Amino acid sequence: MARKLKRVEVLEGYDLWSKTYDRTPNPLVALDRRHTMGVLAVRRGEQILDAGCGTGANLHAMMRAGAHPVGVDYSWGMLRVARRSVPRAPLVRADIDAKLPIKARVFDAFLCALVSEHLKNLKLVFREAFAALRPGGRLVFSIFHPDIAISGVEANFARSGVEYRLGALPYRVDDYLNFAADAGFRDVSKRDFRGDVKLVDEIPQAAKYLHRPLLMIVTGRKPV
Ligand SMILES: C[S@@+](CC[C@H](N)C(=O)[O-])C[C@H]1O[C@@H](n2cnc3c(N)ncnc32)[C@H](O)[C@@H]1O
Repeated sequence: MARKLKRVEVLEGYDLWSKTYDRTPNPLVALDRRHTMGVLAVRRGEQILDAGCGTGANLHAMMRAGAHPVGVDYSWGMLRVARRSVPRAPLVRADIDAKLPIKARVFDAFLCALVSEHLKNLKLVFREAFAALRPGGRLVFSIFHPDIAISGVEANFARSGVEYRLGALPYRVDDYLNFAADAGFRDVSKRDFRGDVKLVDEIPQAAKYLHRPLLMIVTGRKPV
């Protein structure tokens, strides 16, 4: 069925999407759920900042693992859903594309999952992540794969016959690695995760990503 296309600002888009985000089958989100928390490897008692926490799915997983996460997002819609699903997690409304309203050198880990293609000040975001972490703290940045974003695919969702497009900035793989290293992170590395048969079984529209890198996770460590 033909869909009407509607381009929306990022904030407006996520406010709209918040009502159905957790129920929208999405290949990238599904692949992220499979890998990112494993890479983060949460330990009991850790303080973790979840920048762009959305509806709080990762906050929920962190709390189950015994950590103390704080969620930051600028969408009231997303934060309302997160408030219901993780009532005990502190939530802060803030733009993570600017200086963060949080204490420096506090967090054991900084997670930013599936947000970065929207961030205009990515260099600053890595610097703020570095400042937020305690010495020895770790960075986990999960990213809509730059090779796909550069090919013109955008964050999008459909509802009531309308496909909403939220855009994706065309960062390159090296931009992420360089911004992380320039911010001061050590051991900066990346892993690619491809669409696979399991993903297509779960979400048939993932067929177009079969064997293609869809998710990239960048990690780094603040020196002690
Ligand atoms: C694709 S969702 C990912 C949410 C969550 N991390 C997850 O894994 O499900 C992107 C989130 O980033 C948030 N976001 C985008 N740009 C932001 C900004 N500049 N400041 C704060 N949040 C932002 C959106 O509101 C949305 O909740």
